[in-house]
Parts: sequence; C-alpha cells; structure tokens
Amino acid sequence: MNNNNIPKGVISRLPRYYRYLGELLSSGLERVSSNDLSQLMKLSMSQIRQDLHHFGGFGQAGYGYNIIYLYSEIGKILKLDKTHNLVVIGAGNLGQTLTNYATFEQYGFKIIGIFDNNPALDGQDIGNTGLKVQLLDELPDFLNQNDIDIAVLTIPKQGALAIIDILVTHEIKGIWNFAHVDLNLRVPDTIAVENVHLSESLMRLSFRLDD
Ligand code: NAI
Repeated sequence: MNNNNIPKGVISRLPRYYRYLGELLSSGLERVSSNDLSQLMKLSMSQIRQDLHHFGGFGQAGYGYNIIYLYSEIGKILKLDKTHNLVVIGAGNLGQTLTNYATFEQYGFKIIGIFDNNPALDGQDIGNTGLKVQLLDELPDFLNQNDIDIAVLTIPKQGALAIIDILVTHEIKGIWNFAHVDLNLRVPDTIAVENVHLSESLMRLSFRLDD
C-alpha cells in the first residue's frame, strides 16, 4: 500500500477513527456498522466508506466493520504497531507535563530522555517516570547511543532553531514541535514535523463563538 497517495484529510481523520475503534473494542464489541460508526463520530456514512476505501475497505455489505481488524490496520498505517523512542528537549512546565503523561506509552511512544540547558535542573527527577533531567551537552552522545525516532521540542523558538543541526546530524525522523516557529519550513523534507500551536486552536474556537 502506498500511503503517500492517501489524501491528507483522510490521514488527519485516522487518529480519530483509531480512538473511537479503541473505545468500541474496550467495550467488548466485535463489529460496528457504518451507520453506528457514523452516528458515533458524527461523520456521514459516505465519508466513512470513502475514507476506509483507501485502505482496501475493511468492511462487508450488511456485515459492518470488523473492529479489531480495522483498529489494527489503522494502527499499522499510523505506525503504532512499533515502539517509537522519544526525547524531550526543554524540561520546563510543558516538557515535564508531557513526560509525565503515561498515555503516550500506551500508543508506543516511549519518552526515554529529557534534556535542558539549565544547570539547576540537572539530575532532577520527573515525577515517577524514572527519568532524570540531563544537560543539553549530553544530547549528542545520548542520540548516538539510543535509537531515537522523535524529538519533542518544548523550548523557545531560538533554542529550537539552534538545535536543528544536531537533530539532522543524528537522523532524527520526526519532530513534535511546540516552539513558536514552523519548523517544517526549516528542516529537510526527510524529517517529519508536527507543529503544535495551541493558541491557533483557541483562535479557531474564538471564531466560532457567538457574539
Ligand atoms: P518553561 O519556561 O517552563 O520551560 C522552558 C524550559 O526550556 C526551561 O526549563 C528552560 O531552561 C529550557 N530551555 C530554554 N532554552 C533551551 C534550549 N535552547 N535548550 C534546552 N533547554 C532550553 O516554558 P513552558 O511553559 O514549558 O513552555 C515551553 C515552550 O513551549 C515555550 O517556549 C512556550 O512558548 C512554548 N509553548 C508552546 C505551546 C504551543 O501550543 N505550541 C503551548 C505552551 C508553551
């Protein structure tokens, strides 16, 4: 299957399908009709059919979707069937909160290191994760010695721009970027970047408020 041909809109809906299907699985169901899925997710049946058609359908007329099959196939497409090691760069409020959030590991995202350039944080425990803050100088060695797929940037813009070279040199595959800069415009195409701007989400909400 060539996932490059799948429209971006479909890819962006996959995590939501995955979440709903995971909830259905937890409730013990084995099958779901496109009608029930449509009601649950507030998506039209034709949208669901079109979306899932990109992956060979997975459904049978009058029989509904096999939840575990669909869940595991979507998981494979999202590459959730393997573990991804992550490092967090920036051990402030956001970096520590993300590192403490155990749910990521349930999806195969394992934070195995957290770094900061503030010497006062060196060696500080992060909750009960077993991780201690390491100084930024130690990052290159850590990247050499560990198989890291994703760097999480919870530092200001200038720090994020300054760290790009290290990440590129060590062939990081993805950056989960919280710094206020669109890093996808600054790194080679070989590195996948997901910029997260919570304030943009708030602005979209603001637009939809009644005056
Ligand atoms: P914070 O001030 O609590 O933590 C930032 C940490 O980064 C500090 O521990 C600092 O020592 C460290 N740091 C700064 N420059 C560094 C560098 N070059 N290398 C390594 N460590 C460095 O800030 P907070 O609340 O954790 O936010 C972190 C960043 O994320 C801020 O720049 C903030 O603007 C941004 N942010 C972005 C959001 C978004 O939706 N994209 C939401 C919230 C914060």
